[in-house]
Amino acid sequence: MSLVTIDSWPTRQHIDFRPQLEAGNILFLPTTPFAAPEESKEFLRNLSFAGGAVHKNIAYRTAQDRITGIEGDAALAERVRDIFRRYSREVVRFVTALLPDYASSWKLDYASFRPVEEEGRDLPLNKRNDLIHTDAFPSRPTNGGLILRVFTNISATKTRVWVTSDPFRSIAERYAREAGLHRIAVAAHSPWAPLRSRSARMLRSLGLPVVPRSPYDRFMLRFHDYLKRNDDFQNNYAQHRYEFPPGSTWLVFTDVTPHSVQAGQHALEQTFIVARESLSDRENAPISILERICGRPLLAGAPAIAPMA
Ligand code: SIN
Ligand code: FE
Repeated sequence: MSLVTIDSWPTRQHIDFRPQLEAGNILFLPTTPFAAPEESKEFLRNLSFAGGAVHKNIAYRTAQDRITGIEGDAALAERVRDIFRRYSREVVRFVTALLPDYASSWKLDYASFRPVEEEGRDLPLNKRNDLIHTDAFPSRPTNGGLILRVFTNISATKTRVWVTSDPFRSIAERYAREAGLHRIAVAAHSPWAPLRSRSARMLRSLGLPVVPRSPYDRFMLRFHDYLKRNDDFQNNYAQHRYEFPPGSTWLVFTDVTPHSVQAGQHALEQTFIVARESLSDRENAPISILERICGRPLLAGAPAIAPMA
C-alpha cells in the first residue's frame, strides 16, 4: 500500500495507472490538476449550517443535475449546484485523460461536499468514517463494479489525514469468512431464492423503496459494518497514515483500499463506478477475490431485497 505521486500533469508519456489503483494504491496530485476556483472553494467553506436549511451532507446527483442537502434558499442552492456541476465536469475531463480505459464504460455516480471537521465527530458507529472500512452504498449496488473516488481538499489551512490498511485481497482472505461470505453465497442459491426474487419484483412494482441486491452487494455492505465493529482489525491490522494538504487531489478505489479519515475539513469528492471489464486485471476486482474465496458466483442467483437506507 503506498502513495503514487503525480507531480506534474499531463505526464510527458502516457502511463497506465490502472495497476497501481487496482493494487490498492492512492494516486496523489499535490497540486489539483484542474480548475477549482478559489472563490468557489471559499463560498463552500463559508456555508452556514445554522438553521438546518443547509445539511451537513450535500450531494450532487450528477446524472440528474440535482443537489440534495439544501432546502429553502433557491439562489443559494443554485450557486452550490453550479459549483458542483463545474467540479464534476473538471474531474470527469481529468480522469478521462488519466484513465481512458476506465472512462469508456464507467458510470458517473454522485459527487459530495464534506463540510464538517472530521476529528472528534460524534456519529453512530456505522456512519463513523474515522473507523477503517471499505465502501459500499446501501442505495446503489454496484453489481461487481468498483468504487473509484476522487477527493479534493478545498480547506484553506487544514490537512486531511487518512489512515488506510492493506488492500481488499489481504483483508478478505483474513476476514471474509468470519463476516459471513459463505452464508450469503449459499443463501443466494437456496431453493427459496427464486421466491425472494419474485417478492422483490412485486414490492418494487408496488412502489416500495426496496433495493434488489446481488449477493456480492449484500456481502460488501455487511463487510463495511463488520470491519467498523471489529476491534482486532481496527487495532492490530496494518495501518498506513497519509496527509493530504490543502489544494491537493487524490484518487482511490475505496472498496479495494480500506480507509478512514482522522482529521480535516472541507473536501469535495466525485465517485465513478468502474466496470470490472475495464480493469487491467479483472482478477483484482473484489468480486473476483470473493468468488475465489467462497467458490461460488456472487452475481448469479436471486437478488435479495432490503429496505433502502
Ligand atoms: C470515507 O469515504 O470514508 C471518508 C473519506 C473522506 O471524507 O476523506
Ligand atoms: Fe469510506
